[in-house]
Amino acid sequence: MILPIVAYGDTVLRKVGATIDPTYKDLDKLIENMWETMYNANGVGLAAPQVGKAIQLFIVDTDAFDDEKYPSMKKVFINAEIMEEWGTEWEYEEGCLSIPHIREKVSRFSHLLIRYQDEQFNWFEEEYDGIAARVIQHEYDHCQGKLFVDHISQLKRRLLKTKLTNISKGGAHVDYKMRLPSNR
Ligand code: NI
Repeated sequence: MILPIVAYGDTVLRKVGATIDPTYKDLDKLIENMWETMYNANGVGLAAPQVGKAIQLFIVDTDAFDDEKYPSMKKVFINAEIMEEWGTEWEYEEGCLSIPHIREKVSRFSHLLIRYQDEQFNWFEEEYDGIAARVIQHEYDHCQGKLFVDHISQLKRRLLKTKLTNISKGGAHVDYKMRLPSNR
Protein backbone atom coordinates (compact mmCIF):
# COMPACT_ATOMS: atom_id res chain seq x y z
CA MET A 1 0.00 0.00 0.00
CA ILE A 2 1.34 3.40 -0.93
CA LEU A 3 1.41 5.71 2.08
CA PRO A 4 1.17 9.50 1.95
CA ILE A 5 4.53 11.20 2.46
CA VAL A 6 4.63 13.75 5.24
CA ALA A 7 5.38 17.25 3.97
CA TYR A 8 7.83 19.75 5.42
CA GLY A 9 6.39 21.54 8.43
CA ASP A 10 4.92 18.50 10.13
CA THR A 11 6.19 18.05 13.70
CA VAL A 12 6.74 14.31 13.17
CA LEU A 13 9.74 15.21 10.98
CA ARG A 14 11.29 16.95 13.99
CA LYS A 15 11.01 14.09 16.46
CA VAL A 16 13.85 11.80 17.45
CA GLY A 17 12.55 8.37 16.51
CA ALA A 18 11.94 5.82 19.25
CA THR A 19 13.92 2.58 19.12
CA ILE A 20 11.85 -0.47 18.26
CA ASP A 21 12.00 -4.19 19.09
CA PRO A 22 10.46 -7.34 17.57
CA THR A 23 7.17 -6.70 19.40
CA TYR A 24 6.55 -3.62 17.22
CA LYS A 25 3.17 -4.25 15.63
CA ASP A 26 2.93 -5.01 11.89
CA LEU A 27 6.54 -4.08 11.19
CA ASP A 28 6.78 -6.31 8.10
CA LYS A 29 3.74 -4.61 6.63
CA LEU A 30 5.12 -1.15 7.40
CA ILE A 31 8.46 -1.95 5.73
CA GLU A 32 6.69 -3.40 2.68
CA ASN A 33 4.54 -0.27 2.44
CA MET A 34 7.59 1.95 2.79
CA TRP A 35 9.35 0.21 -0.14
CA GLU A 36 6.24 0.62 -2.26
CA THR A 37 5.88 4.27 -1.24
CA MET A 38 9.56 5.01 -1.93
CA TYR A 39 9.61 3.39 -5.39
CA ASN A 40 6.32 5.04 -6.33
CA ALA A 41 7.90 8.43 -5.59
CA ASN A 42 11.20 7.51 -7.31
CA GLY A 43 13.08 7.88 -4.05
CA VAL A 44 16.40 6.27 -3.13
CA GLY A 45 15.69 6.32 0.58
CA LEU A 46 12.78 6.77 2.98
CA ALA A 47 12.63 7.15 6.74
CA ALA A 48 9.70 6.15 8.96
CA PRO A 49 9.02 9.74 10.15
CA GLN A 50 8.26 10.56 6.51
CA VAL A 51 5.28 8.23 6.67
CA GLY A 52 4.25 9.59 10.05
CA LYS A 53 6.01 7.13 12.38
CA ALA A 54 8.61 8.59 14.75
CA ILE A 55 10.66 5.39 15.04
CA GLN A 56 14.24 4.36 14.25
CA LEU A 57 13.68 2.84 10.84
CA PHE A 58 14.80 3.78 7.35
CA ILE A 59 15.26 2.06 4.01
CA VAL A 60 17.78 2.66 1.23
CA ASP A 61 18.09 1.48 -2.37
CA THR A 62 20.84 3.17 -4.36
CA ASP A 63 20.20 1.16 -7.53
CA ALA A 64 18.77 4.21 -9.36
CA PHE A 65 22.17 5.97 -9.22
CA ASP A 66 23.72 3.45 -11.57
CA ASP A 67 27.18 4.39 -10.35
CA GLU A 68 29.76 1.96 -11.67
CA LYS A 69 32.27 2.88 -9.02
CA TYR A 70 30.05 1.61 -6.23
CA PRO A 71 27.82 -1.45 -6.21
CA SER A 72 24.18 -0.65 -5.46
CA MET A 73 22.92 -1.26 -1.96
CA LYS A 74 19.41 -2.13 -0.80
CA LYS A 75 18.81 -2.41 2.92
CA VAL A 76 16.55 -1.86 5.89
CA PHE A 77 18.15 -0.05 8.85
CA ILE A 78 16.57 -0.42 12.28
CA ASN A 79 17.84 1.28 15.49
CA ALA A 80 20.82 2.55 13.54
CA GLU A 81 23.67 4.45 15.12
CA ILE A 82 26.42 6.12 13.13
CA MET A 83 29.45 5.30 15.26
CA GLU A 84 32.01 7.30 13.32
CA GLU A 85 32.36 9.53 10.26
CA TRP A 86 35.65 10.35 8.57
CA GLY A 87 37.35 11.09 5.26
CA THR A 88 36.92 14.07 2.98
CA GLU A 89 33.94 16.35 3.33
CA TRP A 90 32.25 16.56 -0.05
CA GLU A 91 29.29 18.48 -1.40
CA TYR A 92 26.37 16.77 -3.05
CA GLU A 93 23.07 18.23 -4.16
CA GLU A 94 20.45 16.58 -1.96
CA GLY A 95 16.69 16.48 -2.27
CA CYS A 96 13.97 14.99 -0.10
CA LEU A 97 10.52 13.53 -0.80
CA SER A 98 9.18 15.62 2.11
CA ILE A 99 10.67 18.80 0.60
CA PRO A 100 9.83 18.52 -3.12
CA HIS A 101 11.45 20.66 -5.81
CA ILE A 102 14.20 21.94 -3.54
CA ARG A 103 17.76 20.75 -4.05
CA GLU A 104 20.73 22.13 -2.16
CA LYS A 105 24.37 21.26 -1.88
CA VAL A 106 25.09 19.62 1.46
CA SER A 107 28.58 18.89 2.75
CA ARG A 108 29.11 15.59 4.57
CA PHE A 109 31.95 13.22 5.40
CA SER A 110 32.76 10.60 2.78
CA HIS A 111 33.00 7.56 5.09
CA LEU A 112 31.01 6.20 7.98
CA LEU A 113 30.71 3.27 10.32
CA ILE A 114 27.14 2.31 11.18
CA ARG A 115 25.69 -0.16 13.66
CA TYR A 116 22.12 -1.26 12.96
CA GLN A 117 19.60 -4.10 13.02
CA ASP A 118 17.98 -5.63 9.97
CA GLU A 119 14.31 -6.62 9.75
CA GLN A 120 15.03 -9.81 11.73
CA PHE A 121 16.70 -7.67 14.43
CA ASN A 122 20.17 -9.09 13.79
CA TRP A 123 22.93 -6.59 14.56
CA PHE A 124 25.42 -5.49 11.91
CA GLU A 125 28.37 -3.13 11.90
CA GLU A 126 29.36 -1.93 8.44
CA GLU A 127 31.40 0.75 6.70
CA TYR A 128 30.05 2.76 3.80
CA ASP A 129 31.33 5.43 1.45
CA GLY A 130 30.25 7.01 -1.82
CA ILE A 131 26.58 7.50 -2.61
CA ALA A 132 25.46 4.77 -0.17
CA ALA A 133 27.04 6.69 2.73
CA ARG A 134 25.37 9.88 1.50
CA VAL A 135 21.88 8.36 1.40
CA ILE A 136 22.42 6.69 4.80
CA GLN A 137 23.48 10.04 6.33
CA HIS A 138 20.39 11.75 4.91
CA GLU A 139 17.94 9.05 6.10
CA TYR A 140 19.69 8.66 9.45
CA ASP A 141 19.20 12.40 9.98
CA HIS A 142 15.43 11.95 9.45
CA CYS A 143 15.34 9.50 12.37
CA GLN A 144 17.09 12.15 14.52
CA GLY A 145 14.52 14.80 13.58
CA LYS A 146 16.91 16.49 11.15
CA LEU A 147 16.39 17.56 7.54
CA PHE A 148 18.93 18.34 4.84
CA VAL A 149 17.94 22.02 4.88
CA ASP A 150 19.34 22.18 8.44
CA HIS A 151 22.80 21.71 6.95
CA ILE A 152 22.73 24.72 4.62
CA SER A 153 23.72 28.28 5.55
CA GLN A 154 21.26 30.53 7.38
CA LEU A 155 21.27 32.88 4.44
CA LYS A 156 20.32 30.15 1.99
CA ARG A 157 17.66 28.89 4.37
CA ARG A 158 16.19 32.37 4.65
CA LEU A 159 16.01 32.51 0.86
CA LEU A 160 14.12 29.22 0.85
CA LYS A 161 11.63 30.24 3.51
CA THR A 162 8.81 31.13 1.11
CA LYS A 163 9.26 27.88 -0.81
CA LEU A 164 9.28 25.83 2.40
CA THR A 165 6.13 27.51 3.67
CA ASN A 166 4.52 26.87 0.32
CA ILE A 167 5.35 23.15 0.58
CA SER A 168 3.79 22.89 4.05
CA LYS A 169 0.63 24.52 2.68
CA GLY A 170 0.35 22.03 -0.16
CA GLY A 171 1.66 24.30 -2.89
CA ALA A 172 4.22 21.84 -4.24
CA HIS A 173 2.94 19.76 -7.11
CA VAL A 174 4.14 16.19 -6.99
CA ASP A 175 2.91 12.98 -8.54
CA TYR A 176 2.79 11.14 -5.22
CA LYS A 177 0.43 11.52 -2.29
CA MET A 178 1.49 13.94 0.44
CA ARG A 179 0.18 14.54 3.94
CA LEU A 180 0.14 18.19 4.91
CA PRO A 181 0.74 19.45 8.45
CA SER A 182 -2.78 20.88 8.67
CA ASN A 183 -4.25 17.62 7.43
CA ARG A 184 -3.63 15.51 10.51
NI1 NI B 1 14.61 13.05 3.00
